[in-house]
Amino acid sequence: MILEKKISALEGAESTLVMASGMCATTVMLFALVPPNGHIVTSTDCYRKTKIFMETFLPKLGITVIVIDPADTPGLEDAVNKHEVSLFFTESPTNPFLRCVDIELVSKICHKRGTLVCIDGTFATPLNQKPLALGADLVVHSATKYIGGHNDVLGGCVSGSMELVSEVRNLHHVLGGTLNPNAAYLLIRGMKTIHLRVKQQNLTALRMAQILETHPKVSHVYYPGLPSHPEHHIAKRQMTGFGGVVSFEIDGDRETTIKFVDSLKIPYIAPSFGGCESIVDQPAIMSYWDLTQ
Ligand SMILES: *Cc1c(COP(=O)(O)O)cnc(C)c1O
Ligand SMILES: *[C@@H]1O[C@H](CO)[C@@H](O)[C@H](O)[C@H]1NC(C)=O
Repeated sequence: MILEKKISALEGAESTLVMASGMCATTVMLFALVPPNGHIVTSTDCYRKTKIFMETFLPKLGITVIVIDPADTPGLEDAVNKHEVSLFFTESPTNPFLRCVDIELVSKICHKRGTLVCIDGTFATPLNQKPLALGADLVVHSATKYIGGHNDVLGGCVSGSMELVSEVRNLHHVLGGTLNPNAAYLLIRGMKTIHLRVKQQNLTALRMAQILETHPKVSHVYYPGLPSHPEHHIAKRQMTGFGGVVSFEIDGDRETTIKFVDSLKIPYIAPSFGGCESIVDQPAIMSYWDLTQ
């Protein structure tokens, strides 16, 4: 209850539901709001498990999943005009390329056709971006990341109007995935410093992105705070800071990148983000090790 009120206050939401993990929040929200044989639209760049759920599990319920590029607003308009789309679900910024969706614009496009908009704002944090104020109907977070902020607790949340969140809450009571009280305690404790943590992460990540971008052995840096980012103009408008995750490519092959990662002195080699420790993840051999190039 207290945790839900705190997140609602940050998001400017009528209601928030916290659950046992970010994946729990996303999957229960989709189950609750998309009917069997319905349609959803989502974007290409996405947290891998969310993508797996949408592309392999939802079709079993007859749900059609239309995938668009994060910048393809004409594609979104076309999809909502052609089909009865229940929901547009996207991350902004996305994982791992930090693409940004114009939340105000997509909300206008979707609302003309009665389509709901849900933004996974995990990468943005509830401080750097307020999707509900920009017109989205719902915002979800993996609280495991910045909200907890200490890499020691799992949680997820969905915020929005009382009506929509109650629909998700009712199904959540049936499905389970309840946050345990100690996890709620850790999340509340983590939130006491979220402002200070995110402020520093905004600054450190931007500085790191700028340094990496000028480095001769770095071939590409993906960070919405850099003018070279394809959606920098959107990010600048709808975010107050760009968060603590920077994606980049080393000029070289997999082995060169392994050598680079192994030479780093400060970060731990681990997936996840949003905690106080700096961490580095090489997706080709870690989170995406089983995929092709
Ligand atoms: C980590 C993450 C999730 C899943 O969250 P869990 O709490 O680990 O289940 C969902 N979306 C995004 C963008 C994430 O980074
Ligand atoms: C970074 O984070 C804080 C939240 O603590 C936010 O208020 C601030 O505007 C952000 N931006 C920058 C550039 O630091």
